[in-house]
Amino acid sequence: MLDVSETGVRYEDVTSLAELRENFVTLFKVAGRAIVIARTPAGISAFDGTCTHARFHFGTSRLVADCEIECPMHGARFDAATGAVTKGPAKLPLPRIDAVIENGIVRVRVDWAATP
Ligand code: FES
Repeated sequence: MLDVSETGVRYEDVTSLAELRENFVTLFKVAGRAIVIARTPAGISAFDGTCTHARFHFGTSRLVADCEIECPMHGARFDAATGAVTKGPAKLPLPRIDAVIENGIVRVRVDWAATP
């Protein structure tokens, strides 16, 4: 379901919180864009689903130690809460996508150009 708030911000339903395995990142295609949603003991975070090193698309996989997303191509790691690089060769963080949980449904902001 897609809706537009009074401010013009658009969110789309992605999945239920119950479908997200804890300590995993899960790949989704939303509004034409590959995204990953990480579920950690601290909550959920959504990011662009493409590694900032050489544009490899992440798949669905277990988070590595300390809640990091590891790129399967060359081993770069990113903080699963912030997207910050924790291990090279990537130099740029994963672009974060605003995600919210409403009534057990995970929704992400899909007005991509406006998402930081
Ligand atoms: S493409 Fe991800 S580390 Fe190189």
